[in-house]
Amino acid sequence: MTLADNTGWLTRTPGTDPAADFVDRAPAHEVTWTDPVTGATGHLVVHTLVGGIATGGTRMRAGCTRSEVADLARGMATKTAAFGLPVGGAKGGVDFDPKDPRAFGVLTRFFAAMRPWLDARWVTAEDLGVTQQRIDAAFAEVGLGQSFHAAISRAPQPEAALARVHAGLEVLADGLPLGDVIGGYGVAQACLGAARAFGWEVERTRVAIQGVGTMGGGAAWYLHEAGAKVVAVADAAGTLVDRRGLDVPALLELRDEYGEIDRTRVPAHVQQLSREAILSLEAEVFVPAAISYAIREDNVHEVAAKVVVEAANAATTWGAEDALTARGVPVVPDFIANAGAAAWAWWLLQGQVGTDPQDSFRRLATEMQSKVAVLAERWTQDGTPMRDTGFALASTNLHLLEGVEIVIP
Ligand SMILES: NC(=O)c1ccc[n+]([C@@H]2O[C@H](COP(=O)([O-])OP(=O)(O)OC[C@H]3O[C@@H](n4cnc5c(N)ncnc54)[C@H](O)[C@@H]3O)[C@@H](O)[C@H]2O)c1
Repeated sequence: MTLADNTGWLTRTPGTDPAADFVDRAPAHEVTWTDPVTGATGHLVVHTLVGGIATGGTRMRAGCTRSEVADLARGMATKTAAFGLPVGGAKGGVDFDPKDPRAFGVLTRFFAAMRPWLDARWVTAEDLGVTQQRIDAAFAEVGLGQSFHAAISRAPQPEAALARVHAGLEVLADGLPLGDVIGGYGVAQACLGAARAFGWEVERTRVAIQGVGTMGGGAAWYLHEAGAKVVAVADAAGTLVDRRGLDVPALLELRDEYGEIDRTRVPAHVQQLSREAILSLEAEVFVPAAISYAIREDNVHEVAAKVVVEAANAATTWGAEDALTARGVPVVPDFIANAGAAAWAWWLLQGQVGTDPQDSFRRLATEMQSKVAVLAERWTQDGTPMRDTGFALASTNLHLLEGVEIVIP
């Protein structure tokens, strides 16, 4: 079986809407749960099952709704399909304040209620308001081992598979766990792929990044390392600019645990502007890597970059994306650009990458750049929005993956 990479998307029947597999399709399964102790509501939405299994994190926030969880599950399904991973997309969400002292109990009871899914069909992980440590502790309480359980239990020797996965999760790259930096590395590769496709020399490619947390900080680090010019970064406190290129490693050193840069230690030659200014800075690439709906109908006219690479989920509203398309500014969609960490986790589970971080980097660089090349080629040929080509790629893979079982060595 060959999955869609450089040309596979062509196999979708012309005239059918590839987005229909994701946008219009109702979730395969939905479970709503009410906590008998606090009355909190939780949701599991399984958008697609591939080989009987799906993956997606669990979030907790006051006000979390079923439709939010369903949107995120759809996003996961699109990501896993775009990268040809033999797993569907899902998401868990609990409407409860994660800082409430009762939060851990709520999470534990939610997982206990979802146990049949977690046992066999749903691999979950950290998300907004829920750290991986909290997930692991809640799993232990329920007697479920760890959050990869549903996949690992399919291995012929689950203990050995678990040891192999743990070894991979402990790998450090540039002093940080590989799993924490690989998502940002993938975003950087999407930017470099766009630069290559549009014929921009890397050293002359200027990038502006909104957000310097896990995704934005990682992207900035690896773009800087590749020789690109990161001319501006923004955090929740404002925008920092150096048109000759920021000293990214030095600035990242000044971040606190929330991804905010200590302004008292920023060098004097770095210009400090408002948080919103990041949109209108002149650059080849703009990377929204902080909030959803960063680019909307009311501010899209401010975007000065030639390409947008979405690191944040749903960074661009559909109306704003139409406006950008009309202006000749393509958007590399979130489900391609930010899929690096999800793809890596499944490569690790399947034994396709191991403890040498360079193997993981090489694999992601190749896959991300080849996908962006396809999106850029269609964009250049006939103006097809990159999101549409991405959906076609994901849809082709989803159909090819029907009936495929994951093999965990
Ligand atoms: N972390 C992952 O593995 C991952 C994977 C896929 C997608 N994402 C998405 O990427 C986005 C960022 O996630 P993260 O994990 O990097 O978050 P994070 O909390 O580590 O960092 C967020 C950054 O955004 C900044 N920020 C917040 N509000 C801002 C604003 N209004 N303007 C400018 N900057 C602002 C913060 O100061 C911080 O630097 C989210 O949409 C997330 O869903 C994350």
